[in-house]
Amino acid sequence: MKRINMAIMGVGNIARQMAAAINGLEGQVCAYGVASRSLERAETFAKEWHFQRVYGSYEELAEDPEVDLVYIATPHAMHYDNARLCVEHGRAVLVEKAFTANAGQARELIRLAREGHVFLTEAIWTRYLPARQIVESLLKEGIIGDPFTLEAEFSVPLSHVRRMYDPALAGGALLDLGMYCLTFASMYFGNEIARVESRAEKLDTGVDAVDEIEYFYQDGRKAHLRTSMVTGPVNRGEIRGTRGRIEVDNLNNYAAIRVYDTAGNLLREPEIPPQINGYEYEVLACVRALEAGRQECAEMPHALTLEIMEQMDRLRRDWGVVYPFETEERGGTSIE
Ligand SMILES: NC(=O)c1ccc[n+]([C@@H]2O[C@H](COP(=O)([O-])OP(=O)(O)OC[C@H]3O[C@@H](n4cnc5c(N)ncnc54)[C@H](OP(=O)(O)O)[C@@H]3O)[C@@H](O)[C@H]2O)c1
Repeated sequence: MKRINMAIMGVGNIARQMAAAINGLEGQVCAYGVASRSLERAETFAKEWHFQRVYGSYEELAEDPEVDLVYIATPHAMHYDNARLCVEHGRAVLVEKAFTANAGQARELIRLAREGHVFLTEAIWTRYLPARQIVESLLKEGIIGDPFTLEAEFSVPLSHVRRMYDPALAGGALLDLGMYCLTFASMYFGNEIARVESRAEKLDTGVDAVDEIEYFYQDGRKAHLRTSMVTGPVNRGEIRGTRGRIEVDNLNNYAAIRVYDTAGNLLREPEIPPQINGYEYEVLACVRALEAGRQECAEMPHALTLEIMEQMDRLRRDWGVVYPFETEERGGTSIE
């Protein structure tokens, strides 16, 4: 396996987590470059996390032909422009969730990447975690019988954080936290949604802060999803079946998986595979895809990224949560 040169765009909170994962993958991934809007911030970050190159602008990073993979760690509203910059320079990209601010942007970005034969994928780490397959195997085995309801909640009090409350940054609980609940439902109950009932309480800034979502599937199953950026922390998922239930602690990065029968007896608690911090799995998936010459990851194909973006557009449209840049004049970027 070739050691790929990885670079980070934007040096905020999640960039530090990714840097720790990259450092832990030494031998397979090289901590190559760091770009910030401030050269000084890039230098400080590079020193702390042992990156070789620094750039005082995102453009400089995109222009560097030595970069094999760019990880985009900026706020949601910037993902489209930042990823587009990379794709147009032929750089492979791993874009943080939410992939873009809306489905129109996602569709356009995917089109550009396919047209330019450039690798592009979404950094929704949960999809790449090996623990996800444990739940899939349990369901396949039939240990809880026929699964019929799914519950998920991810709530963290983050409404004081600008990235969360500012509509210009595509804030809101849904794109940041709620998308993990949509992901949990999508992974285990699919996307054949016949009907949606939902409601959201908004902040004064106009973004959604507390969301309740009910999905009614074509096969009769049901999911109840909750997210809040004013209360919490709550982070759990549950799948109930005719013969028992599966509980998951930390639905973004599974900390525990427990299986109970209908009498409440604990049947199984599978071990969670070891990890650096969980972010390494999406990087390794990119390495494998790049090596195989693919333009997307099997763990999170473009079609699924688009599906989740479309689900979020539909919910925001029902709630009247519209970002200031989603105007008619911006054409393809408007909410669908
Ligand atoms: N996978 C996960 O577990 C996880 C967890 C948290 C967040 N995230 C995702 O990671 C992304 C970033 O979140 P974060 O918490 O790391 O955010 P953050 O701490 O605010 O950092 C974002 C960085 O983006 C850059 N940036 C570029 N344009 C900006 C603008 N107009 N306003 C503010 N910052 C701007 C800044 O870096 P420079 O100025 O240095 O360029 C900033 O440090 C989001 O997509 C979020 O959903 C994922």
